[in-house]
Amino acid sequence: MQLRDNFSLQPFNTFGIDVKAKHFAAFTAVQELQSILALQPETLMILGGGSNVLFTKDYDGLVLHNELKGIELVKEDKDYYYVKAWAGENWHQFVQYCIANNYAGLENLSLIPGCVGASPMQNIGAYGVEIKDVFYELEAYHIHDKTLVTFNREDCAFGYRESVFKRQYKNQFVILNVTYRLSKQPHYNISYGAIEQELEKMAVTDLSIQAISQAVIHIRSSKLPDPKEIGNAGSFFKNPQVPAEVFKQLQTVHPAIVGYPVGDNEIKLAAGWLIEQCGWKGYRKGDAGCHAKQALVLVNYGHATGDEIYHLSEEIIQSVQQKFGVTLEREVNIV
Ligand code: FAD
Ligand code: EPU
Repeated sequence: MQLRDNFSLQPFNTFGIDVKAKHFAAFTAVQELQSILALQPETLMILGGGSNVLFTKDYDGLVLHNELKGIELVKEDKDYYYVKAWAGENWHQFVQYCIANNYAGLENLSLIPGCVGASPMQNIGAYGVEIKDVFYELEAYHIHDKTLVTFNREDCAFGYRESVFKRQYKNQFVILNVTYRLSKQPHYNISYGAIEQELEKMAVTDLSIQAISQAVIHIRSSKLPDPKEIGNAGSFFKNPQVPAEVFKQLQTVHPAIVGYPVGDNEIKLAAGWLIEQCGWKGYRKGDAGCHAKQALVLVNYGHATGDEIYHLSEEIIQSVQQKFGVTLEREVNIV
């Protein structure tokens, strides 16, 4: 393990923001992590694929890049495979590994950037599935107590883009590995309309987890910018939830407003629609912008600073608040 100083994080965040970490190290084994933490670094953060962070300034501390690797089938029973992946595994490659082995349940989550270790942080989700649906347990290392702790699904308190690791345990644990409980018999989830349409386009007659994964990959590639081409971190904001009453009132003024029922009496609004209606879709100021095909995605066309992107997000929040009386919350972790 090599400790580097004044280290550029530009290749380590998908926004491509050019900031420096005061110190940087990568760890490939738990013992390496333990020996770094024994030095009691004051300020530190764990970084995976950097696909859900916006750096707004140089990081005045130690950035630890998680490079723990390995995937193992830890047990199986009549209905399930229990598959453990170490935190530094690439998420999409892990999903493809599961699909190739006929472990069902992660296919709708194909092509999400980042690493396995971050997947429980915000309970990643797409196309009708969230990881909480197939999560079994994870092992994490407590940074100050220096203990190994196992979290089951309840312990993680998963919600929409939420978990205890984003809230009360923020910056307290390093997630080391995650075990998923994947089905022997697939339960196809094509409830998200676009998947069904894409499967039809692909002329799929025999539904399979492979076909669903391909459909998801096609849909995602058609509207989400590839961070290798345009810097971004996916949806910058969460889709806001409002009481059904509020939705009804909004509908009377904005009949085309897009919303989906969730739980009892709550509606999840499409933030992309709200932002587009405020005129931001395709907006660009300098190198900071709002993506032309998906208004929920803020982009860096090349040399934007984290501050410029943050400032744009502030302006968007204010205009949505003014036009609709709805407060957008950022999904991306601001550092
Ligand atoms: P990072 O950005 O490196 O880290 C995110 C946060 O988790 C940081 O606070 C970091 O400190 C912390 N962290 C990371 N690893 C660990 C660890 N091992 N232990 C403790 N803390 C850790 N997300 C979705 O949910 N659904 C989508 O459909 C989706 N689509 C996306 C599309 C694009 C084009 C992009 C760029 C992003 C998208 N995202 C999506 C967001 C992102 O891919 C996910 O949040 C992903 O899980 C982030 O993984 P990462 O390894 O890059 O995390
Ligand atoms: N819409 C617009 N204009 C836009 C974008 C969207 O009007 O510019 C409307 C459309 O009506 C569309 C609806 O919003 O039908 C929903 O759009 P989309 O299906 O693209 O999904 P989303 O709500 O914008 C969410 C997640 C994505 C996830 C997709 C698919 C959040 C914050 N975002 O986006 O996750 O991939 O659904 O399930 O929940 C991420 O978290 O980074 C992410 C990309």
